[in-house]
Amino acid sequence: MSGGGRKTACVTGGNGYIASALIKMLLNKGYTVKTTVRDPDDMEKNSHFKDLHALGPLEIFRADLGSDGSFDEAVAGCDYAFLVAAPMDLNAENPEKDVVEAAVRGTLNVMKSCVRAGSVKRVILTSSIAAVSLRPLQGEGHVLDEESWSDVEFLRAYAKQTRGWAYPVSKVLLEKEASKFALDNGISLVTVCPVTTLGKAPATKAHASIPMIVSLLSGDEALIQTLQHSEKANGSTPMVHIDDLCRAEIFVAEEESASGRYICCSLNTTVLQLAGFLAANYPQYNVKIDRVGDIGGDQKPPRVCVSSAKLIREGFEYKYKTLEEVYGDVVDYARAMGILQA
Ligand SMILES: NC(=O)c1ccc[n+]([C@@H]2O[C@H](COP(=O)([O-])OP(=O)(O)OC[C@H]3O[C@@H](n4cnc5c(N)ncnc54)[C@H](OP(=O)(O)O)[C@@H]3O)[C@@H](O)[C@H]2O)c1
Repeated sequence: MSGGGRKTACVTGGNGYIASALIKMLLNKGYTVKTTVRDPDDMEKNSHFKDLHALGPLEIFRADLGSDGSFDEAVAGCDYAFLVAAPMDLNAENPEKDVVEAAVRGTLNVMKSCVRAGSVKRVILTSSIAAVSLRPLQGEGHVLDEESWSDVEFLRAYAKQTRGWAYPVSKVLLEKEASKFALDNGISLVTVCPVTTLGKAPATKAHASIPMIVSLLSGDEALIQTLQHSEKANGSTPMVHIDDLCRAEIFVAEEESASGRYICCSLNTTVLQLAGFLAANYPQYNVKIDRVGDIGGDQKPPRVCVSSAKLIREGFEYKYKTLEEVYGDVVDYARAMGILQA
């Protein structure tokens, strides 16, 4: 623990959407934060650190997941290490090497730095619902919890048809390798599997999930199709507010008894329900509900329900539970980021 009783946390990938919000929350909670970026001199990506510096002690380090030992300095002396950075290039030329192998190797790389640091009480790994829900679905009303794993063979079998197979495969494999490494090296590891995350963050660029989630308002046909494909593959369109996700990450870090995986999801909805909600609340965007389903069909529940019962059972409370609450600030945020016209 650093001077003055402050706890110190490392957050990897501080210019990312989720990591930037997590850093802000940790600083507001009185933590000292050490974060990493690949290029500290890239002011286009790093300008948000100026405002974050004003909130509390924040140090920025250069580190790359692909470079061994790169995270040693950032992790040294930390109580917690939040592994948030991840390769997510859906257009990678060689997805096996550039996404799957890079993600597994990068995760172990940071965990090795944690072992060398000797101070890290817990590693909090950010995985994804993509490591949980992409598997042959078992009928209507199927509930997916932390026991569920996306099916790597099933995903690889579709590799030639879909661009996005490598990301879920990387998340399954990095989770499994991280668990094994933690066990072998006496590290306390908890894994958070967030669903699509919404809400404002300090980062200069919004994650690709934001343009997708506002696509029914922007009218971006390609992204509406991506949203629909995602629902078809997952059986629902689950969501969580970024504020709740960051609170959950800190909750599982601080709760000594926390262990294993935690799905982080406060709402299971459907594209059709979302379209109905948006048409009623944002009439100026002229949402075409019939474009995504039968008008009136928005009463139908999702085929699959992603369950966050474990997190709730262990004492976590979501603040943003309804579509109104979860979607609350995303329209203003998307306008501010230039994703949506005012
Ligand atoms: N957003 C969501 O809805 C969502 C949902 C479920 C799970 N997640 C997970 O949450 C985590 C953060 O996602 P995000 O939405 O915040 O994404 P993001 O904004 O794209 O951030 C990704 C971060 O990873 C860094 N990174 C990529 N490759 C790297 C490498 N080789 N070495 C070091 N850093 C590297 C990026 O740095 P550069 O800027 O240098 O590229 C960036 O800071 C990811 O693990 C993702 O899988 C996100």
